[in-house]
Amino acid sequence: MDSYAVVGNPIGHSKSPRIHALFAAQTAQDMSYEAILAPLDGFVATVRAFVEAGGLGMNVTVPFKEEAFRLATTLTERARAAGAVNTLKFSGNDIFGDNTDGAGLVRDIADNLGRAITGQRILLLGAGGAARGVILPLLAEKPASLSIANRTADKARALAATFPGCAGGGFEEIGERAFDIVINATSAGLAGGVLPRLTFAFAPGCLAYEMVYGKDTDFLRQAAEAAVTTADGLGMLVEQAAEAFFVWRGVRPETAPVLKELRQA
Ligand code: ATR
Repeated sequence: MDSYAVVGNPIGHSKSPRIHALFAAQTAQDMSYEAILAPLDGFVATVRAFVEAGGLGMNVTVPFKEEAFRLATTLTERARAAGAVNTLKFSGNDIFGDNTDGAGLVRDIADNLGRAITGQRILLLGAGGAARGVILPLLAEKPASLSIANRTADKARALAATFPGCAGGGFEEIGERAFDIVINATSAGLAGGVLPRLTFAFAPGCLAYEMVYGKDTDFLRQAAEAAVTTADGLGMLVEQAAEAFFVWRGVRPETAPVLKELRQA
């Protein structure tokens, strides 16, 4: 049986084995998919052992995406732009590295939430790995503008400077401008942190997208207060998995039934 896995630390909470088992059943692919906990200093050894045992591909999650980027011998353009890899594919001595996070976000917004990104004013909050991972795929949709705001303004400026057509700065530099899609790529919500006051940034009819899922975050609370549409990152999780599944198997699974099942669970 063809063998795949997700590797991270921690990994116990991962929904990826369930998602890929549902994809495999739906598309009749004969494959296994397990969760592997790698020691913090043992990512490369864990990957090499998996390949040695015949493994064909891996998803990579926190905190190893940058290490996976360095390990890959071939990189896609979107992985290079992200500076991180969440999908590895092994063949012979080649370690192919891709990043499907941005494609997952775009697909969730465009297909599942029915929002065109083209021509929209987009505000991306955060300038860490999660933000960087989605910029190129967002720009490929040709938004009217893409602004990056971050607590540490210099990080947003430096990140924006690497992508032509982006502007970046501190939260206060958003001023009173309004946006059609606001995406929270900060990790503030994970630890129950709060963001500065953002309500002015939500244009009427705006989509407020929180990349964190399953949490009532300050970002979602502010969006609800502004009475705009909200979404969490569960759809992105399923869509990035579908994109990885496609990279490995050449088959595109239906995501709607899988997303529905995860929401019910
Ligand atoms: P990730 O891989 O999740 O992006 P990261 O690279 O550590 O993690 O980046 C975390 C991001 O969340 C950063 O943009 C960080 O802001 P700083 O660059 O100023 O550190 C942002 N962040 C984390 N906690 C935050 C908070 N309470 N308020 C605002 N921004 C926060």
